Amino acid sequence: MQLDLDKMLAKIKNTQWALADIDWEAPGVELVTGNPEQYAKLKVFMADLMWIEHVGARGFAAMAKKAPNETLAEIYRYFHAEEQRHANVEMALMKRWGMLDGDTLPEPNINLRLVIDWLDTYSDEMPLEVLGSVIPSLEIALDGALCKFLLDTVKDPVCHAAFEKINEDEARHLGVGFHVLEMMGHGKLHRLAVKAVGTMLNPKLIIGIAAYLPLINRMRDNLVKLGLKEERLYEAMNKYKKIGGRTEQGRRNPWFQIISRQSAMVVDRKSLYHIPVDALVKLTDYYPRRWLKPTPTWVKGLTWKTAA
Ligand SMILES: [Fe+2]
Ligand SMILES: [Fe+2]
Repeated sequence: MQLDLDKMLAKIKNTQWALADIDWEAPGVELVTGNPEQYAKLKVFMADLMWIEHVGARGFAAMAKKAPNETLAEIYRYFHAEEQRHANVEMALMKRWGMLDGDTLPEPNINLRLVIDWLDTYSDEMPLEVLGSVIPSLEIALDGALCKFLLDTVKDPVCHAAFEKINEDEARHLGVGFHVLEMMGHGKLHRLAVKAVGTMLNPKLIIGIAAYLPLINRMRDNLVKLGLKEERLYEAMNKYKKIGGRTEQGRRNPWFQIISRQSAMVVDRKSLYHIPVDALVKLTDYYPRRWLKPTPTWVKGLTWKTAA
């Protein structure tokens, strides 16, 4: 999926939008608030979704610093801002549905919190090929699939109007994401492999993996709690392999190979993979909160308020 990055950047600039473009007062609130059983679960789901946008935002911020050319760097800076906008839209929806206590931010679940901590500490040190390969997977599996679930569950037309805009952004994120994933497959295969092995042995990356794997299983459990079929998440995860593996360059990217193998284990419920990873999910429930870093400063810009 080779893209013309200059054209893509122009398109991104032309399609910028703001929270104020959405009519937040339009009728439809009771479609959410009138279903108390769903409401409580939805509140947790929305908080997680909002924080996942921030994981994406942080990832793009790190990639902007590593981008091999200025066009791609500029694209990533836009994507960083777009993910923050998505988070703000989700906050505005929570506000609309009466899910926010005053102006306080909803708490992310512990696994999201650990991933955010890791990103904040180490993502700037990671080579582009790691983030460039994992971000499309995260976008397709979490961002993409969760938004779809939300639209299937919630009938409020304002939510649908907002996600129409978000999904257009996401389509571009994925387009660029898979382009970069292929870009990272250029070069001599053995050199790519040796470099990947070297990075894999980096203890900082190992900590990152230990934070990332239980997050996926936690999100799966949360979706099931919400009454959604986990197979839908798996369909989304399989798309990563399908799209990323379409070209030889994509398949040559060792990180694509690693991530698609990991995804294949996630979607196989009988896989032994789930024994240690589900144990990690349980274990992280006991992770001492005082070991967590204070909420990173970049979330301070978060607001449900609309700006023109
Ligand atoms: Fe997003
Ligand atoms: Fe995205």
